[in-house]
Amino acid sequence: MTPERQRELLRRLFDPAAERPGPLGARSVRNPASAYSCPERFSRERERLFRRLPSLVGLSAECARPGDHLTANLGGVPIAVVRQPDESLRGFVNACRHRGAALVLGCGRAQRAIACPYHGWTYALDGSLRARPSAEAGFDDVPKESLSLHPVAVAEAHGLIFARARGGEPFSVDDALHGAQEELAAYGLESYVPIETRTQELPINWKLVVDTFTEPYHIPWLHKASIAPHYFFDRWIFDAYGPHGRFIGVRRSVERELEKPDENERVLLPHGTTQYLLLPNAILVHQIDHVELWRLTPLAVDRTRVSTSIFAPRPPESERERAYWIKNLDALLGVTANEDFPLMARIQENLSSGAVPEVVYGKMEPALVHFHAAVDAELAR
Ligand code: FES
Ligand SMILES: [Fe+2]
Repeated sequence: MTPERQRELLRRLFDPAAERPGPLGARSVRNPASAYSCPERFSRERERLFRRLPSLVGLSAECARPGDHLTANLGGVPIAVVRQPDESLRGFVNACRHRGAALVLGCGRAQRAIACPYHGWTYALDGSLRARPSAEAGFDDVPKESLSLHPVAVAEAHGLIFARARGGEPFSVDDALHGAQEELAAYGLESYVPIETRTQELPINWKLVVDTFTEPYHIPWLHKASIAPHYFFDRWIFDAYGPHGRFIGVRRSVERELEKPDENERVLLPHGTTQYLLLPNAILVHQIDHVELWRLTPLAVDRTRVSTSIFAPRPPESERERAYWIKNLDALLGVTANEDFPLMARIQENLSSGAVPEVVYGKMEPALVHFHAAVDAELAR
């Protein structure tokens, strides 16, 4: 985010004429509980959102050198993204053409080729089948040329890697970001480095994971013993970018900026939690001095795999520096694991019970309203 944009947002945050709490959205809405509990709707969401829309699968730094790979599950479709010798990226369905074994796991470093762990079939980094060791005669009526890995569309820009499981035609990151690219490009994410990723499975619908991050209204209640003293909960910034949104909650430390007589010296980012809610699968967060990435994989209507990664703006120069970033990740996952997600699990139980017909998103929860409207619009498309 550029310094000019930060100053513009600071002016909005402290506009004396603005309504508080606020700014409010146009209207409150009711959403049927079935949006979180209906298995048939869940199947449509996986197909329409998670397979057909581009998903943010990672930062470029996670797959930086030729032969590096990263993997994702896009609405049930297992994919692998592989850095090519010419530095471009290719995506494949992560399944061997022999009998379907997963070829690579997680994030991996600098392989010269992709070897299947089951019977050793070997693929070039471009996905073409190179060798069936000790077994060519056993498959001499199935030409190798017909057994390249199935391609998946991938795009990379601004340090972000997107992939799409269905629909072969190419797409661009800028198209996928619907205008958010201007701000995101200014972070220089290309130079960030991955520190650590932790993965958990939560007994909640994937949308409840997103809901967790969309308003500061809950902070004085749910987080009164932890982070509440540090945050404003009567003001926020929300802007929509097509189906995506950028929501900023601010720490009280931001008041220090207003004391700087020269407006050009004021900054917002170190005092904010700036969250890019990127439909369908990711929440990219700038927090104080680093970046966090939440990647969601819906497994069932009431089960979601969530991975949380922390990225530093430069490689840690000492163990102490590394420990500082890890401490940030511990704190983030501590608050969400102790306070947010157990409550979300009980909400899921309630919404699945059949006894709760609907939930209400208020005018003072504009990011929540926008997110659910965007999901509904994709389903209706
Ligand atoms: S499944 Fe990959 S070599 Fe057999
Ligand atoms: Fe929270």
